[in-house]
Amino acid sequence: MNKIIVTRQIPQKFISQLEDIAEVVVWNESLIPMPRDKFLAEVQDAIACFITLNETIDETCLANAPHLKVIANMAVGYDNIDVNIAKQKGIIVTNTPEVLTETTAELAFTLMLATARRIVEAEKYVQDGQWKSWGPYLLSGKDVYGSTIGIFGMGDIGKAFAKRLKGFDTNILYHNRSRHEDAERDYNASFVSFEELLEKSDFVVCTAPLTDETKYKFNAEAFAKMKTDAIFINIGRGAIVNENDLVHALNTGQILACGLDVLEQEPIDVEHPLLKMPNVVIVPHIGSASEYTRDRMVQLCVDNIKAVLNNEPAITPVSS
Ligand code: GLV
Repeated sequence: MNKIIVTRQIPQKFISQLEDIAEVVVWNESLIPMPRDKFLAEVQDAIACFITLNETIDETCLANAPHLKVIANMAVGYDNIDVNIAKQKGIIVTNTPEVLTETTAELAFTLMLATARRIVEAEKYVQDGQWKSWGPYLLSGKDVYGSTIGIFGMGDIGKAFAKRLKGFDTNILYHNRSRHEDAERDYNASFVSFEELLEKSDFVVCTAPLTDETKYKFNAEAFAKMKTDAIFINIGRGAIVNENDLVHALNTGQILACGLDVLEQEPIDVEHPLLKMPNVVIVPHIGSASEYTRDRMVQLCVDNIKAVLNNEPAITPVSS
């Protein structure tokens, strides 16, 4: 029994590498996740799984996977996996850190500039034929230059984001579980409490992972502390934000705008109130989506599977 499951269509050059070591069952769809029932049926005799953040690896799934040795998650975040139970069962879980850091920081930067300068609104204005003349305050936004940026989550992506701010003469604040002296030294970032970050930042940028501590961290109380002209960016995970509270904060002018790469429910319901707001920019969870980076993420998953099945240490195992 030697079966590897791949829950999404990936280029054949990667599948071939796995075929060299085992039978490979691929769900050959690029945009439709493997149905849960099918996954649960396939995992019963699998030794390895290549999964995406759409698969929930919980107790039910792991109880059903007696031969599983490794789960390679094609993402840096792994809140979709019960790592503690996997560990109890001796299953190695791996993720894809580092290879996606710069690309994801660039998306955060894109969302910051797009919301600050109202790019999506402006483009729609032109497309809709509303552009009649130059106007003194037409679509005027907010400068990133010279502003205070509050980074919530100073991991690799937070640091790569801070590095990009260098040319913008900003004042960088950050909040994180622990201090990062390298970020303080290299980017002149100041460690502050969560409250101070909210109160002082012109842009609050969330790059944190979803954990018990960060779930719904951005709620009514947090938005109420932010500046009324603050812009909120989230590239971490949707459930770090209470979306009803975010809608309320935007509707009542508690904050100015937001840019989101992640939502609690993905895909977002097309009737969701956030989609009706001109000051909200939403993209479909594409933080790490450059061709180069996605190739590197897939290769890292394949390499992790190969290593574990070869009785070698995983390259990027996650700790619980
Ligand atoms: C994407 O969200 C990831 O965690 O890599």
